[in-house]
Amino acid sequence: MNKLVLIAGGSTLVYACLAWMMAVLPGVELSKVPAGPGVQPLTALQSEGREVYVANGCSYCHTQQVRPLNEDKVFGRPSAEGDFTYQTPELLGSERTGPDLTNIGMRQPSSVWQYIHLYNPRAVVSESIMPSFNWMFDVIHQAPAGVTSVPLPKGYAPAHGVVVPSHEAQALIAYLASLKQPPVSEAEAASGDQAMADMASPTTRTSAPASANLAPPVGGYDAAKGAALFTANCSACHQASGEGLPGAFPSLKGDAVVNNDDATKHIHVVLNGLHDAKVGGVVYGSAMPPFAGSLSDVEVADIIDYERSSWGNHGKPVIAAQVTAERGKAK
Ligand code: HEC
Ligand code: HEC
Repeated sequence: MNKLVLIAGGSTLVYACLAWMMAVLPGVELSKVPAGPGVQPLTALQSEGREVYVANGCSYCHTQQVRPLNEDKVFGRPSAEGDFTYQTPELLGSERTGPDLTNIGMRQPSSVWQYIHLYNPRAVVSESIMPSFNWMFDVIHQAPAGVTSVPLPKGYAPAHGVVVPSHEAQALIAYLASLKQPPVSEAEAASGDQAMADMASPTTRTSAPASANLAPPVGGYDAAKGAALFTANCSACHQASGEGLPGAFPSLKGDAVVNNDDATKHIHVVLNGLHDAKVGGVVYGSAMPPFAGSLSDVEVADIIDYERSSWGNHGKPVIAAQVTAERGKAK
């Protein structure tokens, strides 16, 4: 009998010690990690959005942890402990069916794009296998004052009425917008925008600073690079066809700026972004994000030349030196 008590008691004690060491202590340790520089607590709306994210199983397909691996570079810098201070329990996830979302607020800052994508991912990414979350939207007769309806492309919009995001969808998109990686170290913080933008860039930069590769590629622009860069940076909004989405993102096919032989405005838009402008007579509710921080001069020139020679466009090609000059003016 005594032996039995000893075995039962002993094993319970061992079990309790192991549980303490493996499950409790790490949690206690982690709760003492100070927030990384620039890491902000969530607002009330963003925290609500986090709940919506959990409730709808977004983590079944999306991670929020960038590994220190080459293949993860497109998603941002490797995650650090201090990133998660205000995100407990952490939504690390393990299935990478979709892209990592740690830095999605930087990578896709357009809430208009996020709403269209959430309503039906196929409306912006034709081959997407992500489910539609259209029940988070209301279809109503007319958008009330102060509420903008989601500019869905034809074929995705309901036959009657307009689509407006529910409170749930608004919270979720606010949460996604909050997912941004601040730079980790002081040194990185000092290089500021550049470092942030480098991390946000979906392209992997291999070469050094923009000024180091001024020479135009021999024999004109690099068409394959231009196409790949356009796909990585621009086609989510302007679409692979260049035709954009009516009411949301302008068409670049036959666009006046893209076909103007004076490329100053074209370069300016890609470097600095654009908002509240009129394109082809239409005022778009969404903004074009700036790419000055994430693309080198050669890359910008390649993308611009790709736009200028695709979809029937025939604008005069540009060289990287023109981009360098325009970038200099902005400073
Ligand atoms: C069944 C798997 C699956 C689920 C569940 C899922 N997604 Fe996705 N998601 C994907 C895939 C695959 C992609 C890549 C294709 C695309 O952009 O639509 C994606 C893309 C995205 C993107 C764009 C990422 C980028 O880098 O461009 C966002 C944002 C996103 N999902 C958010 C969500 C949110 C929020 C939820 C929960 C409401 C969710 N996803 C649920 C599979 C999923
Ligand atoms: C988040 C969506 C989004 C992304 C990504 C995006 N754009 Fe835009 N783009 C827009 C919107 C919206 C406008 C119109 C802005 C306005 O009217 O104020 C625009 C306008 C433009 C214009 C100006 C057209 C004109 O006639 O003035 C050009 C050129 C352009 N984009 C090129 C690009 C290139 C090149 C890329 C990739 C490097 C890109 N865009 C990425 C949304 C986007």
